[in-house]
Amino acid sequence: MNDQPSTRKILVTGGAGFIGSNFIHHWIQHYPQDQIINLDALTYAGNLDNLADIEAANNYQFVKGDICDAQLVDKIMAGINLVVHFAAESHVDRSILEPDKFLQTNILGTHVLLKAALKHRVNHFHHISTDEVFGSLELDSTTKFSEDTKYNPHSPYSASKASSDHLVRAYGDTYGLPYTISNCSNNYGPYQFPEKFVSLAISNLIDNKPVPIYGHGKNVRDWLFVTDHCHAIDQIIHQGKVGQTYLVGGLTTDISNLELIQIIANLMHKPETMFEFVSNRPGHDLRYAVDWSKIHQELDWSPLVTIEEGLEATIDWYQANQDWWRKLKSQNRAYFNKQYQER
Ligand code: NAD
Ligand code: DAU
Repeated sequence: MNDQPSTRKILVTGGAGFIGSNFIHHWIQHYPQDQIINLDALTYAGNLDNLADIEAANNYQFVKGDICDAQLVDKIMAGINLVVHFAAESHVDRSILEPDKFLQTNILGTHVLLKAALKHRVNHFHHISTDEVFGSLELDSTTKFSEDTKYNPHSPYSASKASSDHLVRAYGDTYGLPYTISNCSNNYGPYQFPEKFVSLAISNLIDNKPVPIYGHGKNVRDWLFVTDHCHAIDQIIHQGKVGQTYLVGGLTTDISNLELIQIIANLMHKPETMFEFVSNRPGHDLRYAVDWSKIHQELDWSPLVTIEEGLEATIDWYQANQDWWRKLKSQNRAYFNKQYQER
């Protein structure tokens, strides 16, 4: 996208969450001339500790607020050149327990942003989405998701993200809103709320607690280190074509959940058997695999961090930042009790 001013005013939604806060760090480091407004409702997943190092920076402003609040969004959107939209309810297990919030934020909240972006003639709206919208692939197959794969979501989370993708495209096709979309795979890395598989596993293993494995543990995910994802978004914003979708993944071969836990346990010098099988997630997708050749060929992006390097860096971060995740685990005890029936 070339029609941006040299100093941009950027609205990042959900910037106090895991990927959003990594992205803000990335952007401030690479484009310090830009002004960032971070709009975040600070749900259980939003955490200003993630941004403590930049909170006083004069190119950064935090606004606590809900993307569903049309009046507030309208006010903030005036003068914005670029929207990077991360804000969402993001955890599949929570969407099974409490789907309503997912529809509210992920669908209606996205719609509020699209309307305001159109009204204020924003130059570029980048929507962050997920490979989960494509549903599930067969285990032991070599098929991968591509930009042409049909949508087939199974959880309330992925169905709500699919709806938001359709709305973004509808605003492009119907009203000419200049947008791009990225559908990426499972991110891991620093600042990930300790409810997701990798962050939960590492934090449990630090405490010598077994890692809960849903079902048979043969499910496969594509794992993407969060800084590689931030680079991909950067490339799409600067080189991507309006109206295009880019898939972003981190791997080329399958790794099952059980294999991933073995790699993590080995890196942490813990027994490989420190896991326990627990009841399966309802509607648990079997396999995700991402063909990221389009972004590679068209925008010259590739993941730079190997799974071992990424996990090692993540383990080091969780070991060095125990106060950060212990506080979250203790504040969210009710969720963990309900999800894992801990007493
Ligand atoms: P996260 O749950 O860590 O953070 C979400 C952030 O959004 C939080 O700061 C939260 O406070 C904020 N938020 C939630 N509802 C809001 C609302 N109504 N108004 C304003 N802010 C609100 O999520 P994440 O893992 O960083 O994911 C970010 C985005 O990337 C999401 O859109 C998610 O669907 C997508 N995504 C995530 C992954 C992954 O592996 N984590 C993979 C693919 C796509
Ligand atoms: O694929 C992208 C998606 O990745 C994102 O859109 C979501 O926001 C993100 O949460 C993630 O969804 P998953 O459901 O794939 O991630 P999660 O970390 O919850 O689970 C990864 C795998 O590990 C999955 O097969 C379920 C399994 N799992 C998860 C947890 C939390 C377990 O076996 N035990 C667990 O306790």
